[in-house]
Amino acid sequence: MSKIVLNNINKFYGSNHVLKDINLTINDGEFMTLLGPSGCGKTTTLRVIAGLEEPKSGQIYMDDKLIANGEEDFFTPSSERNLNLVFQSYALWPHMTVYQIVAFGLQIKKMPKNQIDEIVKNALKRMQIEEYADRYPSELSGGQQQRVAIARAIATNPKVLLLDEPLSNLDAKLRVDMRGELKRLHQEMGTTIVYVTHDQVEALTMSTRVAIFFEGEIEQVDTPMNVYNNPATVKVANFIGNPRINTINGTVKKQDSKYLIDSCLGHIEIPESDVEGELTDKCVIAFRPEQVILSKKDNGKASAKVYSCMPAGSETLVSLEANNEQFLVKELGVNEYEHNSTVYLSIDSNRLNIYNFETGKLVVKAQM
Ligand SMILES: Nc1ncnc2c1ncn2[C@@H]1O[C@H](COP(=O)(O)OP(=O)(O)OP(=O)(O)O)[C@@H](O)[C@H]1O
Ligand SMILES: [Mg+2]
Repeated sequence: MSKIVLNNINKFYGSNHVLKDINLTINDGEFMTLLGPSGCGKTTTLRVIAGLEEPKSGQIYMDDKLIANGEEDFFTPSSERNLNLVFQSYALWPHMTVYQIVAFGLQIKKMPKNQIDEIVKNALKRMQIEEYADRYPSELSGGQQQRVAIARAIATNPKVLLLDEPLSNLDAKLRVDMRGELKRLHQEMGTTIVYVTHDQVEALTMSTRVAIFFEGEIEQVDTPMNVYNNPATVKVANFIGNPRINTINGTVKKQDSKYLIDSCLGHIEIPESDVEGELTDKCVIAFRPEQVILSKKDNGKASAKVYSCMPAGSETLVSLEANNEQFLVKELGVNEYEHNSTVYLSIDSNRLNIYNFETGKLVVKAQM
């Protein structure tokens, strides 16, 4: 178990500023996921923590001990940081069998043979690769090799486990199985895990907290629930959730101690006390497809036209148009709506997230 603190970390590759003032505290025993699109700096952050890259400026502390200080060119060697890294491209030793690879770190620790055997077998079993114990890496598929790399990392019971897209080569079913295994392992071992992925479902299902990166900057660090329910910026809102969140434009007027907001969802009123930050004359309103209830009968609510209706077994996605805005509604079960028919929208205005139009920052939080 270990706590890691990143303090104003800046990293450049040539003139490319890839980490911009990264501040992040990863608590003891936490499962922290670094999430963001390709090229946003996730792997680089992991490599900086591991001691494989040197930041130009900023400090890293592990259990309150300084292990890197960019300004003073002080960097504790990777081997002395007591962590284990599973790379995006897993490097397995080609001349060893799967069993030998997983056992290697334990043999170095001079652990008794029968104890090593127990740990190795357990790690292989958890990763569902027991049957490949005697094979060499070249005789395994990409997904099998990836699981060997995870087994090797967990076998040594490191204080910190750094995992860089460790499930990227697995098929959909195995990926779900392995997510479950990693989550259980985390709880049983109490290891601090820093996990990198660009898959938001992976991030939401396993993590205690998620740090969302865009272009070398952290946009939000929060629990999966808060990231989903109250994305801190429009960018985060658009990145989290499948199907995607809906965003529409609204016009804002201030009246006494209230804000009056008009949009294709109709007219809403927000008390001034609910606004954190600045609301100007335009705003962006975000809501999840599952938050709208549709009615075919006129109920006096705002209306929209059905653009297309997509039933898919357990749910129906309905794409709608109103005031030149398009948005998606998700309903449970199979429902039919005729193209171009009119529907009426019910949505709880307390559950809307409202953003400043210019800055994209959340100013009115949805209540969940
Ligand atoms: N060794 C390197 N030399 C120069 N530029 C690099 C190097 N490694 C990464 N970069 C650049 O730094 C930026 C961040 O890269 P990084 O590998 O951290 O992204 P990532 O978030 O892990 O992306 P992905 O999801 O595709 O793995 C990218 O623009 C990348 O091109
Ligand atoms: Mg990467």
